[in-house]
Amino acid sequence: MSSPSASADIVRAPQHLAIVMDGNGRWAERRHRPRSFGHREGQKALRATLEYCLRRGIKALTLFAFSSENWRRPEEEVGALMQLFLKALDREVDELHGHGVRIEFIGDLSAFSPELQARMHKAMEKTRANTALLANVAVNYGGRWDIANAARLAAEAVARGEIEAASINENLLARWLALSGQPPVDLFIRTGGELRISNFLLWQLAYAELVFIDTLWPDVDAAVLDDCLNEFTRRERRFGQTSAQVVAGSGQGVA
Ligand code: FPP
Repeated sequence: MSSPSASADIVRAPQHLAIVMDGNGRWAERRHRPRSFGHREGQKALRATLEYCLRRGIKALTLFAFSSENWRRPEEEVGALMQLFLKALDREVDELHGHGVRIEFIGDLSAFSPELQARMHKAMEKTRANTALLANVAVNYGGRWDIANAARLAAEAVARGEIEAASINENLLARWLALSGQPPVDLFIRTGGELRISNFLLWQLAYAELVFIDTLWPDVDAAVLDDCLNEFTRRERRFGQTSAQVVAGSGQGVA
């Protein structure tokens, strides 16, 4: 992996960064190439982002790689993405493991081919003990699915007599959500110019700072990420308190 390039402006790096990697298709179409070419190029930006997070000491990175709605895309594009995921798992896992990256897949994995599921589980098992960076890859993921899934798991725990229905509150329900036990997402970035969350981490983004940029995903590099982190540094995070309270130093995060 490449060497560091520090920016003096970033005084407060986020602990947990979540990214909607949008714009691969447009990037390719502008070059009169098939959309799958854009997804392949997108992998380079993904690698650069992982390197960047390792360098900056960011503890967790959550990437939206394939939404539960992406199955609606043309069969050819879905097929190309599945091939890309398979190849990436073959090619990248060992190197990421060597850099201490823990890989987690979040989402309903049961919809993928047995081969892909097996490789995803293998990657998770292999990297489970790593601590340099937690890379969550959201596949067949939707924020509504995540919340409904947590509610179902809570209902099952009630049915087994393990918890009382009356004890279900935000903290308890969060145990069954994806990213449970991880640092809260504090910076969300969406590339590609759309101003939407698109059913990504609906619950987990409650207190995240949202940054939307026009850059298409394959064009993302360390300089673009530095700009986003600088923007994060400039934001005042109040977590429901007043600005005066935050300035006085009593502003403790609730997220
Ligand atoms: C959104 O761009 C991107 C995706 C649906 C796929 C993201 C996949 C990658 C970055 C490839 C590498 C990923 C892994 C985990 C190996 P879009 O197709 O919606 O672009 P558009 O908005 O320009 O059409």
